[in-house]
Amino acid sequence: MGVVGVVGVVARRRGQTVGVELGEAVRRRHMVRSFSGRPVPHEVVDRLVRATLAAPSAGNTRGTAWIVLEGAAQTSRYWMAATTAPWRAGARRWPGLSRAAVVAVSLASPAAYLSRYAEPDKARGGADLGLSESEDAWAVPYWFADAAFGVMTLLLGATAEGLGACFLGNFRAEAEVLSALGVPNGWRLFGAVALGEPAGDDPSSSSLDRAGPAEEDRVHYGRWGSVSGPAAEGSAPPTGRQ
Ligand SMILES: Cc1cc2nc3c(=O)[nH]c(=O)nc-3n(C[C@H](O)[C@H](O)[C@H](O)COP(=O)(O)O)c2cc1C
Repeated sequence: MGVVGVVGVVARRRGQTVGVELGEAVRRRHMVRSFSGRPVPHEVVDRLVRATLAAPSAGNTRGTAWIVLEGAAQTSRYWMAATTAPWRAGARRWPGLSRAAVVAVSLASPAAYLSRYAEPDKARGGADLGLSESEDAWAVPYWFADAAFGVMTLLLGATAEGLGACFLGNFRAEAEVLSALGVPNGWRLFGAVALGEPAGDDPSSSSLDRAGPAEEDRVHYGRWGSVSGPAAEGSAPPTGRQ
C-alpha cells in the first residue's frame, strides 16, 4: 500500500483482484468513451455513487444529488433528452458511449447554498456579501464546485474498480434532461457520468492531441512565475519566467 492508502481496496479485472493505490488511480484515470455494454452489478454502482457523498461540500450543505440510470431502458432517458437524432447519426462516439451500462446524472441546488449561507454560523459573512440573496453574489458557484468534487470522486472510484467513466458536460438540453428525469424545479444539471466496462476501442480524443500549457505555467511556488520550492526562497531570486 502506498503512503496515501488504497482507494478501491479491491478492483475486479477479468476475474483478478487487485488493489489500487490512490496515486495510481489518479494517474490511470482517463475519460473512457466506448463501453462493452456489459452490465455493472447494482451493488457496485450503488457503492461507487454513495462514496461520492463523502466528497467535500461547502458549508457541509450537501446540496447536490444524483439520478443513477442503469441499463438501456433507463440510460436512454438521458441520451434521448441530451442529444439529437442528427448528432446520434453523425457522432463517431455515439455507438461506444450509448453502450455505457450506467449514466449518473449530477444535479446541484443553488437554493440549498443560498439557504445554508443564511444560517447563523454563515450569515454574517454571507449577509455582507449578499450570498443568501442572489446566485450572482457568489464569486464561485459552490453548488457546481460541490458537484464537481462528487463527479471526480466517482471518476476515481470507477478507475479503482477497474471500470471506465466519462464526464459529459452540460452544453444544451438542460431543461429537457431535467424534465425527462422528473427533477423538481430549482435543481440545475451539472453534467453526467457515463460508466461501465471499457470496450478498449476508444475513438481518439482531439482534446488530447492539442498542445497545452507547460507544467511550469500551471504550478507556481511562492509567487506567480516561480518554479522553485521554499528551499530556494531567500537564497536565490525566483527562477521562473518573469
Ligand atoms: C468540465 C468538463 C466538461 C467536459 N465535458 C466533456 C464532454 O461533454 N464530453 C466528453 O467526451 N468529454 C468531456 N470532458 C472530458 C475532457 O475532454 C477530458 O477530461 C480532457 O480532454 C482530458 O482527458 P482525460 O480526462 O482523459 O485525461 C469534460 C471535462 C470537464 C472537466
